[in-house]
Amino acid sequence: MKTILTGIKPTGMAHLGNILGAVQPAIDLANKSVDTQSIFFIADYHALTSVRDPIAFKEDVYSIAATWIALGLDTKKSIFYKQSDVSEIFELQWILSCMTPKGDMNRAHSYKDKVQKNLDNKKDPDLGVNMGLFSYPILMAADILLYDTNLVPVGKDQKQHIEIARSIAQRINEFYGEGTLIEPQEVLQESGASYVVGLDGRKMSKSYDNAIGVWETEKRLKKLINKIKTDSSEPDTPKNPDDSFIMDLYKLFATPEQIAQEEALYREGIGWGYAKAHLFDVVNESLKAPREKYNELMQNKSALDEVLEDGAKRARVVASKTLSRVRNKMTGF
Ligand code: TRP
Repeated sequence: MKTILTGIKPTGMAHLGNILGAVQPAIDLANKSVDTQSIFFIADYHALTSVRDPIAFKEDVYSIAATWIALGLDTKKSIFYKQSDVSEIFELQWILSCMTPKGDMNRAHSYKDKVQKNLDNKKDPDLGVNMGLFSYPILMAADILLYDTNLVPVGKDQKQHIEIARSIAQRINEFYGEGTLIEPQEVLQESGASYVVGLDGRKMSKSYDNAIGVWETEKRLKKLINKIKTDSSEPDTPKNPDDSFIMDLYKLFATPEQIAQEEALYREGIGWGYAKAHLFDVVNESLKAPREKYNELMQNKSALDEVLEDGAKRARVVASKTLSRVRNKMTGF
């Protein structure tokens, strides 16, 4: 039995790139695997390194939870919880902190980048750096190591964090014996050039301001799709379906028959207005049912609480066993 685990930081409404690139593949993998325990959690205390608004904080946590459930996560099969509900994580974090050289944290990318930015601006290198940000990788290591995790699916930007978790586990195993902790492996997502394009043709990303939110109303969704950049070619000029990011997006939501038909229309010449309307139709069609489910969940937060509490309960069964084992090896108690 292998354990797969990943954490999701709550950062406002998910966009199409998030769900197609990460959420949906993870859910599909979890729902269909037989010899694997999948653990997904909302990394809410990680967000506390920067989020200062409790109302937004709470809403974002619920939004992420509702997103995963609306898109079909089987919360009975997988373990799904929010980090702050599993206090064992924070106890393990302290233990791991005592086994982590400070120098390793100095070299962690996000901390290092922040310090470098301050130096570039001739500011105090520690300006705006709280201890949560500094020890972020250790909290992440605790998230992972607490469940004897084997595999961690993450984006490339998180690779160093998994390496740090692995090296902490290795160091502890060297001191206290093999098997004190399991050494995890990263599984990198978003390989190659396949990504979801945003409104301007670049990779869809919140920071480019080109994203389409998954749970926008139909009206907003239509408006956003109409904002997609196009060239000024006339409606009846033939268009190359392989060179259009409206088509790229269309392909992610349409059936093979719909795609073939649409490609033919492009070659005959289609007005961009029509191409966008067709895109809206397929996107809206696939999001309609989950959107209803999402809205329902967001209007019934106590149901979400229940799901998360049940997940935390199951997580703590595993967590407390690992923690006892580690504590015993390291302190004798
Ligand atoms: N740091 C990750 C991110 O920003 C989120 C995260 C927290 C995580 N803990 C984790 C991912 C444990 C994988 C495993 O995306």
